[in-house]
Amino acid sequence: MNLHPVGIIGTGKYVPDRILSNQELEQMVETNDEWIVTRTGIRERRMAAAEQATSDLAYQASLKAIEAAGITVEDIDLIIVSTITPDTFFPSTACLLQDKLGAKKAAAFDLSAACSGFIYGLATASNMIATGMYKHVLVVGAETLSRITDYTDRNTCILFGDGAGAVVLGQVEEGRGFKAFELGADGSGGELLKVSGGGSRMPSSAESVASKQHYIHMAGNDVFKFAVRIMGGAAEEALRKAGMNKEDIDLLVPHQANVRIIQSALNRLDLSEEKCMINLDKYGNMSAASIPVALAEAVEQGRVNEGDCLVFVGFGGGLTWGASVLIW
Ligand code: UT7
Repeated sequence: MNLHPVGIIGTGKYVPDRILSNQELEQMVETNDEWIVTRTGIRERRMAAAEQATSDLAYQASLKAIEAAGITVEDIDLIIVSTITPDTFFPSTACLLQDKLGAKKAAAFDLSAACSGFIYGLATASNMIATGMYKHVLVVGAETLSRITDYTDRNTCILFGDGAGAVVLGQVEEGRGFKAFELGADGSGGELLKVSGGGSRMPSSAESVASKQHYIHMAGNDVFKFAVRIMGGAAEEALRKAGMNKEDIDLLVPHQANVRIIQSALNRLDLSEEKCMINLDKYGNMSAASIPVALAEAVEQGRVNEGDCLVFVGFGGGLTWGASVLIW
């Protein structure tokens, strides 16, 4: 079978207006700006308005990506929304987004791989286009993590924020587009980062609410060690599959969880900070939205040029990880 080269033909992002600063968090839990900045690199994060759900954020980002791609909503064959904070269990957020956009011809589904979800989405979409099944796929990473964050838990509430990033994937010319994907999972580490309540194992009840089972619980230090181990390795493996080296990287777009985790990946890849997109100081960790928002900002800032080698790399709950090499 002849595979078509597939790339990103449009990007877009949306973050809510409301800023939650480190100074405000100092009033909410026993923490301080200095601790948060030195331990994580985060200065502020965004919070969705009460009336905004994940599909609303996804909608705004998608409109921009579709416009940037120079296509119309009728051209979209499939919508994939990667999220751990869907509007509802079902219908999927992708179906809600399909309706908002009026993308009547598009199939739609959600994908659950936590912070690695966007890279899992890219891999799924690009293979569907490469094989000729679809022409244009909208891949969105969108989260309203503020809805599952316990703002009395200083271990987690300083980290997370809300936002959405979207890309349109389509056929590109020979030599460009995605060169390799590396996806992985280790379900034995699922306990380290989770929301336990509300599923079939622990249905919602007065007790599950009282014991805070609907919030994110995280063993931060264990997740940190896993992330440091996996980030560099996953990026290297994707580069190896692409037949490329770390010297070829023009821009690394990593998951934005902690600047110290990003720094360790840069050390392993012998990359300088100039070759890395970092925006977690403004947004914190937006799970599946982190990488597409960082990519959309890199494009806005003129940091991505035709022919550049981009590497995306992420890790998260599951545990999961993913990396990808793309020639822009
Ligand atoms: O997308 C994937 C999701 N998650 C992640 O990527 C998170 C990965 N983990 C991390 O980023 C880091 O582990 C954290 C930022 C969460 C924590 O940093 P750490 O350097 O691993 O700190 P720690 O958990 O080892 O805690 C060190 C100390 C503790 O005090 P004691 O026990 O040494 O007295 C904590 O209680 O810092 C304390 N601490 C805080 N102090 C002030 C924990 N959170 C805070 C806080 N403010 N917000």
